[in-house]
Amino acid sequence: SIPPEVPVSSLDWLLGNWESVEPGKGSYPSLKDFRYTEDLHFAQMGQPIINFMFNASDAETKKMLHRECGFIRMQTGTNRVAFIIAQNSGLVEVEEGELVGKKLSLHTQALARPSFAKEPHVKEVCLAFSIHSIYFSSCSLVSLIIKKNPQVSRVFQLQPDGKLEQTLSMSTDKQPMTQHLHITYSRLA
Ligand code: HEM
Repeated sequence: SIPPEVPVSSLDWLLGNWESVEPGKGSYPSLKDFRYTEDLHFAQMGQPIINFMFNASDAETKKMLHRECGFIRMQTGTNRVAFIIAQNSGLVEVEEGELVGKKLSLHTQALARPSFAKEPHVKEVCLAFSIHSIYFSSCSLVSLIIKKNPQVSRVFQLQPDGKLEQTLSMSTDKQPMTQHLHITYSRLA
């Protein structure tokens, strides 16, 4: 277990609010390319833990698409970082990785989703047989697949110009690890 005195000062460069400079690029072999905007919020609230919230919207329609929030912890005396994440899609994830300089690389450590499969979520996932169908399914076969296959891998990197870059790749039961998102943010005053 991680002791409460975990320092997160090596992640200070993330703290604050960020907004996409220009729309990010979304892609996947099974999807039409799309463009999105996203704001990120990182705050430390009296504990050596960072709270975060990410909100992403369609760049053209402004419709809210993806949201995630959670906590960032570091293992004492190491550069090991954990993101504990809840997503609006129903996915709950622990991602772990390492901080090297101002580059944070994370990979799925654990995944979970709601046990109930109610409409309209089920309808939505029937459109595409993908990792989304896993989130909302209580089918045991699908649960088996989730343990074997779907992974998220992402990198946050502070650029020399002070901008923050995020690249996210994922694998599903149908696709090997492939890029899904790429976006650059600038810090809000
Ligand atoms: C589709 C996962 C973040 C926008 C998908 C699909 C998966 C997925 C599995 C379906 C792929 C397929 O049909 O083969 C994830 C995961 C995310 C994430 C695990 C974060 C860890 C985002 C973000 C956006 C986004 C930040 C920004 C807008 C979309 C869109 C689609 C999509 C527009 C296509 C429509 C849809 O199926 O809902 N995502 N996604 N995703 N994702 Fe993401």
